[in-house]
Amino acid sequence: PRDKSFDGSSIYQYEGAWYRPVLLAGLISSRKHFQAKDSDVIVITFLKSGTTWLKALTYAIVSRSHHAIFDSNSPLLTKNSHDLVPFLDFAYYPNNNNSSEHISTDDPRIFGTHIPYSSLPDSIKNSDCRIVYMCRNPFDQFISHWKFSENLAQEQNVQPISFEEVFELFCKGIHSFGPSWEHVLGYWKASLENPHKILFFKYEDVKEDTSFHVNKLADFLGCPFSDVEKSRGVIEEIVKLCSFDNMKDLEVNKTGRFRGTGIKNSNFFRKGKVGGWTDYFTPSMSERMNKLIEEKFSGSDLTFKMS
Ligand code: A3P
Repeated sequence: PRDKSFDGSSIYQYEGAWYRPVLLAGLISSRKHFQAKDSDVIVITFLKSGTTWLKALTYAIVSRSHHAIFDSNSPLLTKNSHDLVPFLDFAYYPNNNNSSEHISTDDPRIFGTHIPYSSLPDSIKNSDCRIVYMCRNPFDQFISHWKFSENLAQEQNVQPISFEEVFELFCKGIHSFGPSWEHVLGYWKASLENPHKILFFKYEDVKEDTSFHVNKLADFLGCPFSDVEKSRGVIEEIVKLCSFDNMKDLEVNKTGRFRGTGIKNSNFFRKGKVGGWTDYFTPSMSERMNKLIEEKFSGSDLTFKMS
């Protein structure tokens, strides 16, 4: 089946989730060709839940001893997160191709993806590679997605669809990689079943205490911070380097474009806050969203901070 995405372009349903054609082709191809290694790290998020941030944090943690990441020409200062940690499906297997010859030779390799848990390549599930997942409260996630789609429509000279219509599509679960609740619950349940493989973060928690989560992620990835690193303030340096204010103002993020898409890097940095949804939701929309959250997440023990 086919429907409209938030920016008005067509999306298609496959194994219960919705995709733009290029992303669906990437998913199918990566499932066919991608061979995960036990040492791989996969950064997975639902759209607009802090992908750009989590990629930067993961890269900084994993690469801190290999690269001069705290120098003025650090890759974290000169490259966009999506170039540092490319999307597995989109960057390596576009248009149903097998482009794995271009695949990263770093060790460990770090990939990003938005593929739902149930559709992940088998080799990711069956190997000992690790997954870090981040979700976000559905109110802010929805606003962020809507604003991002509005910018895309503007850049592509397409008439954006109305806020009300976009909200309707969201509530029906019709949005890229959606329904969002299926995505989040898929990883939530898998993380409870296999906590050594999947570390589950919430945007709001990471925002509230970034150092704590950076430390936790390093432990999970098997590269804990030493006492010397801790006393030298390495965790705090990583937090600062990857902070919204720092990343937003980098030249590459002010003027660069996301490779292969033409999307401005600046579109990935809007407010970077928790609770901004209150500026946009009407009381009846809030009521409907709350009901949706209650209905979809009840019994899961998963809760969200809305402010
Ligand atoms: P807002 O639109 O609410 O500002 P993604 O990276 O998954 O596309 O998500 C984008 C959202 O994460 C945007 O949210 C963006 O501003 C926010 N974001 C980007 N970089 C961030 C950072 N370093 N710290 C916190 N939030 C960040």
